[in-house]
Amino acid sequence: MSDNEDEESDVIEKRHEHVLPGEHVYEGVLFFGYTPPDILDAVKDFEVRDSDIFLSTYPKAGTTWLQELTWLIMNDGNFDEAIQKPVYFRSPFLEFKDEVLNEVGLDLANPMPSPRVIKTHLPVKLMPRQLKTRDCKTIVLFRNPKDLCVSYYHFYRASSSFGDFRGSWEDFFYMFLDGHVDHGSWFDYTRSWWARREDPRVCILYFEDMKSDLRREIDRLCDFLEKPLQEGVRDAITGHCLFDSMRSNPMTNHLDVYSINAEVSPLLRKGEVGDWKNLFTVTQSELFDKFYKDELGDLDIPFKFTLD
Ligand code: A3P
Repeated sequence: MSDNEDEESDVIEKRHEHVLPGEHVYEGVLFFGYTPPDILDAVKDFEVRDSDIFLSTYPKAGTTWLQELTWLIMNDGNFDEAIQKPVYFRSPFLEFKDEVLNEVGLDLANPMPSPRVIKTHLPVKLMPRQLKTRDCKTIVLFRNPKDLCVSYYHFYRASSSFGDFRGSWEDFFYMFLDGHVDHGSWFDYTRSWWARREDPRVCILYFEDMKSDLRREIDRLCDFLEKPLQEGVRDAITGHCLFDSMRSNPMTNHLDVYSINAEVSPLLRKGEVGDWKNLFTVTQSELFDKFYKDELGDLDIPFKFTLD
């Protein structure tokens, strides 16, 4: 074996070093212990209602942002409730089980009155079986994978649920490319949902479009959700969901969540497009582009890596 090959195998060895608490692989997808196998089994049998709205995002795509927007739209801009109840209780996380808090997404979702706004990070193959037959809607939020990867790296550093990650950015970079992170490969996840884009019950949004014109995207959401809200309500939702408003709002900023150390990195960290340039080296960016091309290059997904 040449010196070069030695170096390469060291890197491969190293990128699998971090172990998630309760780590397991379910149908080829890596999960942390907060999404255990019994919950993934139960999710498949989840009773879906025609009125359900699923929010499908890979972690760090802007899930919380979409939850707050969609919940407010579906509830006709009910700010009284939105400023009293944390977003994670209004919009349950389908495949989540927190034994410390005794919080189970399915238990929250099951008795909830309609319309339910349900968060999930699952690829299509692990979604409830009834998704195929019910008239429910799904909003898929995509974010360019370089910013998403950086955001995930900071979240890994800050969250005890990922097992106090102390690896380097480079370690995480390879873990991400390899799908060796909670909820598995972003590439597989993205391919699975992109294939659903022609379904009229599915709406695809982009984080970058929400950043460049949130009001326009709220109009799109209102159309898709068949909620003809008044202009004033749409304006109020727009203001409420801007980054600074959500960051200072205790119902959305997650500062009360025990597992997130906001001093290391808060959930609402920067909320920018193009922050990846502060962490990616030129070599990493080129490697990422090549990997992306090999994995998803045939799909032509219009990701934006910067805003002009
Ligand atoms: P950064 O880490 O890049 O700041 P998720 O909710 O899926 O965990 O995603 C979190 C990411 O969405 C974070 O990205 C966070 O700042 C960003 N985000 C949340 N609310 C936002 C908002 N109102 N405007 C812009 N970005 C937002």
